[in-house]
Amino acid sequence: MAETITATDRFHRDSRVIFFSGAGISAESGISTFRDPEGHWSKYDPMKLASQAGFLEDPDLVLNWYADRRRAINQAQPNAAHRSISDFQKLFRDSVVITQNVDGLHERAGNRNILELHGNIHRHKCNSCGKNFESPDIEMRTLNHCECGGKIRPDVVWFGESLPLQTLQNAFEAAQNCDLMFTIGTSTQIYPAAQLPFEAKSRGAFVIEINPEPTPFSAQADISVRDDAGSALPKFYEEFYAQIK
Ligand code: OAD
Repeated sequence: MAETITATDRFHRDSRVIFFSGAGISAESGISTFRDPEGHWSKYDPMKLASQAGFLEDPDLVLNWYADRRRAINQAQPNAAHRSISDFQKLFRDSVVITQNVDGLHERAGNRNILELHGNIHRHKCNSCGKNFESPDIEMRTLNHCECGGKIRPDVVWFGESLPLQTLQNAFEAAQNCDLMFTIGTSTQIYPAAQLPFEAKSRGAFVIEINPEPTPFSAQADISVRDDAGSALPKFYEEFYAQIK
């Protein structure tokens, strides 16, 4: 990765760094992405499984799909890319992980300062009053109700819903003020999250994209690496470590 040599020498321990991730960072943990040929949305209709209308029409179908995903996630382990972020976070004093993923693998890998833009599959909330239910061990395959009478659902963001406002604001503020961003394993298609690499770039950050496939952001990336996250990110870490340690 000769091209990265020019990247590392402009950064130091106080550089502000963002790791922006999508489903692809968990692919090597065995967790399905959404838009790859074998991804969820090649098999299922997102409007049936990830929308308010779909949930109200057939809550058990939706709850079972999330329970199956939760089970697969619980059996999976963080991979070399997640672990590499923990290494990076020891190298750089000021870093944030911004993820579109709901799987919680960043946290399990020991990553810090995590902003979850699309919620967390291990949590539930009331569809009416918003009360949170921490339920990592509960299968939740059938519909339960909150004391207010509302339906209990996964605490994830569905199509047509707003992202958690404070989290989104923090993510944009971080993107507008970072020096370096890694955008890892995201198709960069779902807004507003997909705006973040563009935002960072337009404010002068150096942006490194890691993805086996090109994305709508690739042409603007300072470096766009066609590789798996678990292979590329540890290599970048070695380069940055050699320069900054
Ligand atoms: P996508 O499924 O849209 O994109 C996954 C990306 O990961 C693709 O660009 C792949 O090329 C790439 N990829 C696959 N394997 C990889 C690997 N080993 N290393 C690195 N990259 C790899 O997933 P997201 O961009 O996260 O929203 O999708 C954004 C949102 O759309 C998701 O959060 C979800 C979905 O609908 C909600 O559920 C609200």
